[in-house]
Amino acid sequence: MAQINPSILSADFARLAEEAEAVRGSDWLHVDVMDNHFVPNLTLGVPIVESLARATDIPLDCHLMIEDPDRWAPQYVEAGAGSVTFHVEAAAAPVRLAREIRAKGARASMALKPGTPIEPFEDLLPELDMLLIMTVEPGFGGQAFLDIMLPKIRRTRELIDRHGLELWLQVDGGVSASTIERCAEAGADVFVAGSAVYGAQDPAEAVRSLRELAVK
Ligand code: DX5
Ligand code: ZN
Repeated sequence: MAQINPSILSADFARLAEEAEAVRGSDWLHVDVMDNHFVPNLTLGVPIVESLARATDIPLDCHLMIEDPDRWAPQYVEAGAGSVTFHVEAAAAPVRLAREIRAKGARASMALKPGTPIEPFEDLLPELDMLLIMTVEPGFGGQAFLDIMLPKIRRTRELIDRHGLELWLQVDGGVSASTIERCAEAGADVFVAGSAVYGAQDPAEAVRSLRELAVK
């Protein structure tokens, strides 16, 4: 099953509720939280996530590109996120943090920047509901997909299957009609798309056609 998660980073921040409505039928709404420390860009925080969670029925997939996720991630669960992703490069205690996110009632997810290998984290996979492999350097929408990440997606899929785990494998960055099939073929099953959805004439139609390409 392929899931498409539109990223509101490419939406109009002054009209977030309408922009969420424009992608009705999506599995999740991807919310990029950036703190201008972990990445060189600043977006939004807990109060906006709280308001957005009240304004839409689509569950929120919060991607925290921030320092000190150990302190902040639980607050995003309380704000109404259904899934919270922290970066392993920033987490002091990823296992404790994943357990805390789950205990508070959300799906726990961990992200890897392009330069971070999966192998050292193999033993952590059972603690997670999703693993996010970044296919661009985090920080901005609209960047070109990094083809060199395909072997890492493939190796991660093999690890997940070898351990018989249920966790979802998400890709984020440069996912579009011209790259999604390669990601799916490599073993990803959750696809974040920002500019490919919100840059389209009809965002809901863009979600449908991406999903069709991913399940081929
Ligand atoms: C980048 C963000 C992505 C971004 C993707 O750091 O994590 O979620 O919105 O945007 P596109 O799909 O345009 O690459
Ligand atoms: Zn993201």
